[in-house]
Amino acid sequence: MFYLLQVIGFLALLHPAFNFAFPQFPPRETTSLVPSDHCGNQDYTILSGTPWIVYNMLYNADLLVGTQCTNFQSVETPAIGNPEVAWSSVTDIEYVESTDNVPKGYSFVGLTQNLETTISAISSIPANYSWTRTNTTAFKGNICFDFMTSDTKGDSTSTSAQELMLWLQYEGGQLPIGWGDATATIDSLFGTSWKLYEGQNTDTGITVHSMLPDKQFDGSFEGDLKEWLAALVTLGKFTNGTYVNVGNAGTEFFYGNSVMNATLGLQIELS
Ligand SMILES: *[C@@H]1O[C@H](CO)[C@@H](O)[C@H](O)[C@H]1NC(C)=O
Ligand SMILES: *[C@@H]1O[C@H](CO)[C@@H](O)[C@H](O)[C@H]1NC(C)=O
Ligand SMILES: *[C@@H]1O[C@H](CO)[C@@H](O)[C@H](O)[C@H]1NC(C)=O
Ligand SMILES: *[C@@H]1O[C@H](CO)[C@@H](O)[C@H](O)[C@H]1NC(C)=O
Repeated sequence: MFYLLQVIGFLALLHPAFNFAFPQFPPRETTSLVPSDHCGNQDYTILSGTPWIVYNMLYNADLLVGTQCTNFQSVETPAIGNPEVAWSSVTDIEYVESTDNVPKGYSFVGLTQNLETTISAISSIPANYSWTRTNTTAFKGNICFDFMTSDTKGDSTSTSAQELMLWLQYEGGQLPIGWGDATATIDSLFGTSWKLYEGQNTDTGITVHSMLPDKQFDGSFEGDLKEWLAALVTLGKFTNGTYVNVGNAGTEFFYGNSVMNATLGLQIELS
């Protein structure tokens, strides 16, 4: 129970916005399209000429025994279709029983363009996320999208902000905030049905809405994430006039020795 509460406390801290707003350590930043490895806390590279930042966030670095890197490989621009970023998350974190239910951080590719717009001003959010995971020990963690909305433009830290998670795959027994009775069922979205779990992050007061698929995705996801936002509008969680302030795709990790290689296409198209 103690650790379940801790997980609840820590999960919503994974947002880049928190760390951009309250930097605790001087970040090491590179800005280029040259491959780069990021193994420090809040260690990132802004990919110029793209809508992305590649980010290694270790918000529980003090509880992390081992190493965790987020590595940028390349940006591919196919003749047909949207650009994609190739990247990896390399986890080598010891299992420690007392923190096995505490996420150690979040490795992700975040959007830097066309944020802070209302849902109705967005025509689509084309997403194409492909991944492989090879683990040599038990691994606990997930593959997810993570967005933040608010009725206030730019707000991702006040208690009026809301966190939206779309879990694609999860293993090792990870559970969302508000686990227990689902607050809603979404019958048909991205080829499966989903359960919605909701709860408040007790540290920040921010409500987290996590959708978990009834059938997990097995290494690839393609879809328009505006449909995800629309499903939550239909459920009355917020309105079409709500702002999308943060958006990213990544992997949360608790422990294990694991390499995730991924390609991600993700952008916000305005109406
Ligand atoms: C999605 O990504 C896969 C793998 O990179 C690629 O083969 C496919 O063409 C992409 N789809 C779109 C619509 O870009
Ligand atoms: C990889 O992790 C999963 C989930 O913890 C586990 O079931 C599986 O046995 C692991 N694979 C290896 C080779 O340890
Ligand atoms: C939100 O916008 C969509 C797309 O324009 C529309 O279909 C839907 O009815 C709107 N929802 C509400 C609650 O106004
Ligand atoms: C992950 O990607 C790296 C760099 O492209 C490659 O060297 C490695 O073999 C890949 N690992 C797996 C498990 O696919």
